[in-house]
Amino acid sequence: MSATPSQGSIPVLRATGLEKRFGAVVAATEVCLEVIAGERVSLIGSNGAGKTTFVNMITGYIKPDAGSILLDDRDITGLEPRTINRMGVARSFQIPQLYAELSVLDNMLVATACQDRHPSFWRQARSADAVERALALLARFNLLEHAEQRVAGVPGGIRKLLDIAMALTVQPRLLLLDEPTSGVSVEEKFPMMDIVMHALEQEVMTVLFVEHDMDIVERYADRVVAFYSGRIIANDTPQIALAAPDVRRYVTGTLH
Ligand SMILES: Nc1ncnc2c1ncn2[C@@H]1O[C@H](COP(=O)(O)OP(=O)(O)OP(=O)(O)O)[C@@H](O)[C@H]1O
Ligand SMILES: [Mg+2]
Repeated sequence: MSATPSQGSIPVLRATGLEKRFGAVVAATEVCLEVIAGERVSLIGSNGAGKTTFVNMITGYIKPDAGSILLDDRDITGLEPRTINRMGVARSFQIPQLYAELSVLDNMLVATACQDRHPSFWRQARSADAVERALALLARFNLLEHAEQRVAGVPGGIRKLLDIAMALTVQPRLLLLDEPTSGVSVEEKFPMMDIVMHALEQEVMTVLFVEHDMDIVERYADRVVAFYSGRIIANDTPQIALAAPDVRRYVTGTLH
């Protein structure tokens, strides 16, 4: 989905000059990125290129050594993950963070309850309203038939979808997905991403997703941002970015 002029020109996300080192490892350097409302941006790069570090800095899980991060022109640099989440930035993880012993529906209810800051949130967690909202989100992700199943017993693809559905309980402006299709079989990847993108289509939400499969990138991204050694080495349409010599050399391995 592309942004429309009525949404204005202020980027939803504006990261400027981000730097992050872990000892001698440069995980981010001179990282600058602007994303406008409604864009679908894929973050690509080989293992250790700095994709998760970037996601972690935007979501507050890692504080950058330098640089700034603006969300709708509000400075969120270095704020706590919880605060950034409440301000409208949600994420999923490379490995879904779920309560394995609870049912799919109960995971949704916990996620919803955590957003409601009311002191009696546990009592309200199973209120008719909360259940209705949770079921509506599960329906958007084709998860209704799994609602009463224990998470420990459902397939990996279902857990991935649930993790993303749970991220939406905060009604985010910006959603970051760290490898939504990792651990999902080749046959299931496209159907799964179809469900995710269809579920997200209903809102003008900006989505950044980390992805290793270039077929998925080409099909679902409006724009590709390629990382290598902590730097952004390409930032363009999928067609142009994936044809760039540095991307072919350092990311896709199609140029030797
Ligand atoms: N908490 C940490 N402590 C030390 N080094 C880290 C930490 N997090 C990341 N790194 C290092 O920073 C670099 C970038 O890692 P990052 O996890 O961002 O890569 P990535 O692009 O997400 O890779 P992958 O595709 O394997 O998930 C790597 O060299 C990694 O080992
Ligand atoms: Mg990663």
